[in-house]
Amino acid sequence: MHVLGIETSCDETSVGVVNGDGRVLANVVATQVDIHARYGGIVPEVASRQHVIDIRPVCLQAIVKSGLDWGDIDAVSVTHGPGLAGSLIVGLNFAKGLAAALNVPLVGVNHMDGHVYGAWAVTDEYEPQHFQQLVGQQGIMCLVVSGGHTELVVLEGHGHFRLIGETKDDAAGEAFDKAARILGLRYPGGPEIQRVAEGAEETDPFPRAWMKGSDDFSFSGIKTAVLNRAKSLGIYPLDTNSEHVSPKVIASLAKAFQDSVIDVLVTKTIAAAERENCAGIVLVGGVAANRPLRETLLQKSPLPVSVPPFELCTDNGAMIAMSGLMNYRSGRRDTWDLDVIPNLRIGTSFLS
Ligand code: KG4
Ligand code: ZN
Repeated sequence: MHVLGIETSCDETSVGVVNGDGRVLANVVATQVDIHARYGGIVPEVASRQHVIDIRPVCLQAIVKSGLDWGDIDAVSVTHGPGLAGSLIVGLNFAKGLAAALNVPLVGVNHMDGHVYGAWAVTDEYEPQHFQQLVGQQGIMCLVVSGGHTELVVLEGHGHFRLIGETKDDAAGEAFDKAARILGLRYPGGPEIQRVAEGAEETDPFPRAWMKGSDDFSFSGIKTAVLNRAKSLGIYPLDTNSEHVSPKVIASLAKAFQDSVIDVLVTKTIAAAERENCAGIVLVGGVAANRPLRETLLQKSPLPVSVPPFELCTDNGAMIAMSGLMNYRSGRRDTWDLDVIPNLRIGTSFLS
């Protein structure tokens, strides 16, 4: 059994291949980060045009890397939501053409389910078996943190997600991107904030948005707090020629921001996992690439924590292939009228 997965929901064109054991045979990613960096964020029209250019070579490269022939592919899975409509359409139509040409089933995948199932894929460095056994007996708490989403879901059995909390405003990754912009750092902001924060000496902490009594999150307040402090310190609007702009001050603000976001994410995730009597915690999504976030969660959690390697955290085709495999096994098959659903909710791709 081999599943090919196609991901074009945002600004990464990616194709991955997994075998029936969930082992990643290929995971090719063409990122558009540098193209969008000059605009300070993703321009949807530019993203979809770039997907059109990249999808075919990325797919061919994935097949070559996997060491398989076209005839070895048993199903084509594809992200059909959530995401940018124009970007999703490119991947979905390419997937339909490929599935028709290979005469294999088409399997639609929810991008967020895909992020969770990225934690179940197997690579040379990463073996998630631990969790494979646990799911079904007790739930697993999944924190999905990306540029568009911040969600706490309990995986109660394969394909059975229960959403217990989400952001009421900005996603965690979006907050990183916006804070970085205020501080004059490049897009995407997450890796930049992390890099700059490493040089911080002392910090003046920002308040935490606990949203007490619920598992929801809010990150727009911290973004405004960064903005107000940057203004009061005279570093916003940024004048790079100004002698006010001290790298030390930027580093300190970046670290204070990052500490606040991490503290809230980690504390609330652990509390929810314990209350729900979960067997473990899975951290996925682009923000899971943040090293201090991973380390803090691993250090503070009394439950086992699984964080897939970087290439399975940010948007990638292997996680869509992995989720496609699980969907396929649950019996899901799609017809040619499968459409994109830009606001698709988590846990909606599996058959119930
Ligand atoms: O999952 P992803 O690749 O795309 C979406 O589906 O959104 O996540 C991208 C997000 C961006 O907001 C980016 O700033 C953030 O993940 N990100 C990080 C780090 N690397 C990427 N945030 C914090 N620390 C990082 N090291
Ligand atoms: Zn994503």
